[in-house]
Amino acid sequence: VAALPEGYSIRPLQRADFDLGFLDVLRVLTHVGDVSKEEFSTRWDEMKAGAGGYHILVILNEQEKIVGTGALIVERKFIHHLGLVGHIEDIAVAKDQQGKKLGLRIIQALDFVAENTGCYKTILDCSEANEGFYVKCGFKRAGLEMAHYY
Ligand code: ACO
Repeated sequence: VAALPEGYSIRPLQRADFDLGFLDVLRVLTHVGDVSKEEFSTRWDEMKAGAGGYHILVILNEQEKIVGTGALIVERKFIHHLGLVGHIEDIAVAKDQQGKKLGLRIIQALDFVAENTGCYKTILDCSEANEGFYVKCGFKRAGLEMAHYY
């Protein structure tokens, strides 16, 4: 397991993390939009409600600023005798923090949650440019993604 740099920590996303730069880290991944604190809190509450299955982790630096994040969504199935499948989504490390093994550490932590939750596999979609990163995290190419945008 990769060690975090001195002073860094990893923990589940908290409702107050809007103020610690959570959405700014996601902006290195894709378009986030102008999300208010109230909208963030409502979405956070929705993820916590019901049967759960959302595991969002954040890495904080020594100044308690969020510098990395990643999510595991546990999907409940009927097939494979009520099997569980982990989906890794929205992995992002702040630009000036990349290359310090923070991404690897996030994937290892999400993988640990998936295995301990009883998932029989964990899958994700990524660009060709990120394939090498996920190979280093122990994943291998499988299948083909298709999408229908609305
Ligand atoms: N291609 C090949 N190898 C890579 C790449 C890459 N794109 N990125 C990192 N690696 C290697 C590193 O060199 C390192 O190798 P080493 O162990 O031999 O030294 C290993 O993978 C681990 O790298 P980390 O330092 O943990 O990577 P980092 O913390 O920079 O995070 C990440 C990688 C998450 C891809 C980061 O660059 C990032 O946030 N990019 C922009 C957002 C993004 O593309 N996110 C992924 C979208 S896919 C999804 O979310 C499911």
